[in-house]
Amino acid sequence: MDFERILQMTTSERNLALLQDEAFVDDVTEFLAIRQLYNAAIKQVRTKLEILNDGFQVEHCHNPIHHIECRLKSPGSMLEKLRRKGYPIEMQSLREGILDIAGVRVVCNYLNDVNLVADLLLSQDDIRLLKKKDFISNPKPNGYRSLHLIVSVPIFLAGTTEHIPVEIQIRTIAMDYWASLEHHLKYKTENDVSDSLKCRLKHDADWLSAIDADLQDIFCQMNA
Ligand code: GTP
Ligand code: MG
Repeated sequence: MDFERILQMTTSERNLALLQDEAFVDDVTEFLAIRQLYNAAIKQVRTKLEILNDGFQVEHCHNPIHHIECRLKSPGSMLEKLRRKGYPIEMQSLREGILDIAGVRVVCNYLNDVNLVADLLLSQDDIRLLKKKDFISNPKPNGYRSLHLIVSVPIFLAGTTEHIPVEIQIRTIAMDYWASLEHHLKYKTENDVSDSLKCRLKHDADWLSAIDADLQDIFCQMNA
């Protein structure tokens, strides 16, 4: 299979190729079927999170989740990551080596909600934890904070079950605010960011973290 060709094509080019090149049809169909599995895994995780959030509201009059964002990695980003990691451009290395094809970002209201949501999700029987990186207990040197989980969820098909990895980033509104702007600033500039600007960005991240802790305390006192 010319997997590199599939990843490089735009959707319209792929559709055109399907009309012109019959031998290509099976390969493209397989790729689309696999993308659909990752899409199903995103839907599954999103629904689980929404049910947990609604249930928590009914039982404790509190929504731990502010909002959820989902994304499926584009074919171009898949190709870029396979190349960056030095993996062969093949379906197998994509499925085994790239664990963030399906991405779910959970933005929580308060600091304690982050671990609450993670624990509730991970306690479900069909969710398997593959990897955990706690950048809240151990922030990145630049100030980035977030809880990253890679989980696998079962997708039931006619006759088989596929276990699909999903990257879940769980963070507070303040952490999300900082990460979104930092990401935007980083990709906006072509020059290296000066040490003094890096230091200010880190300072702002630490400041927002102190605000998160204070808002959590206010929430606890008001709900005591
Ligand atoms: P990728 O190859 O980028 O997927 O990184 P990784 O596999 O080493 O995973 P890691 O957990 O470090 O980061 C995964 C994702 O977290 C990134 O794609 C970003 O969405 C987010 N992230 C990690 N570090 C930073 C950071 O310093 N700033 C911002 N804004 N986002 C970050
Ligand atoms: Mg990534």
